[in-house]
Amino acid sequence: MARRFDGKSALVTGASLPDGIGAACARQLAAEGARVTVAARDADGLEAVVKEIREAGGDAGARATDLRTPEACEALIAETVLAQEGLDILVNNAGMNARGPVCEVEARDLAAVIQLNLVAPVMLTRLALPHLRSRLGAVVQVASIAGQIPLDGEAAYSASKVGLRFFTFALREELEGTGVRISVVSPGPVDTSFILQDPDHVPDLVFAQPMSSPAEVAEGILACLVDGRRELSIPRRTSLLARLGSAFPSLRHAIAPSMERRGAARKAAHLARRGR
Ligand SMILES: NC(=O)c1ccc[n+]([C@@H]2O[C@H](COP(=O)([O-])OP(=O)(O)OC[C@H]3O[C@@H](n4cnc5c(N)ncnc54)[C@H](OP(=O)(O)O)[C@@H]3O)[C@@H](O)[C@H]2O)c1
Repeated sequence: MARRFDGKSALVTGASLPDGIGAACARQLAAEGARVTVAARDADGLEAVVKEIREAGGDAGARATDLRTPEACEALIAETVLAQEGLDILVNNAGMNARGPVCEVEARDLAAVIQLNLVAPVMLTRLALPHLRSRLGAVVQVASIAGQIPLDGEAAYSASKVGLRFFTFALREELEGTGVRISVVSPGPVDTSFILQDPDHVPDLVFAQPMSSPAEVAEGILACLVDGRRELSIPRRTSLLARLGSAFPSLRHAIAPSMERRGAARKAAHLARRGR
């Protein structure tokens, strides 16, 4: 079978957790021929992902870094380009949340969400672009359904993801005719440890939507890298509801209580399955 990414140089951020979207994406890219650098803070976690990819016959390397500073973003792109002799693919996947009502969350935590989820991908995209332009490369930004509908209890997260979507849509216009593809992937809830951190503060509404697997999201990311579509929402139905709720806040308020009841039941079942 032809491999879609043979000989390509790829960078995936936020790929240190074996059950995360970034690791699933790195595995799939490597299985299809890409040489992949995985980046995040946890060096041991990254090495475990790299080891698994190499044992499966793939080519991968790790860069341990905290992407909340401009210097770290600059160093990551420079080191990846050097190690892999160029860059064809950037997947901006690293992300964090600081859940809870705004006045109950530390101000510095709100700022960190914007720094990691919005400023870092903006910087990494800008720094990667000269390399991607010369090789007709591709970028995927991992946003969220929270960037399609404002989620109370996740205000900074929603702001970071809608910001990332609009940065990308604007940049797409600028890049028209250059051959560089740039897309947004906006998942609903995904079965990773991300959604289980601080579960008491995950809005019940989030669990009202069908849960995707990290592998399904990774498949969507790879599809976007190939066809360069503007945005892929996973699952599509979730996005339709989110956009309707965002455009018509009164509709959202009318249907939210029943969705929250359904979400609360699904959340309890999910936490029980995960032993939480
Ligand atoms: N799970 C969901 O329900 C869901 C839904 C929609 C969108 N998303 C988005 O999908 C992306 C991946 O999420 P996931 O579910 O796979 O979460 P995850 O398993 O918690 O992965 C997050 C990754 O980001 C890395 N990271 C966190 N802080 C970092 C920092 N300061 N510098 C560099 N890397 C950092 C983490 O590694 P270290 O801790 O080692 O740094 C980890 O590898 C995120 O952007 C998230 O917003 C997730």
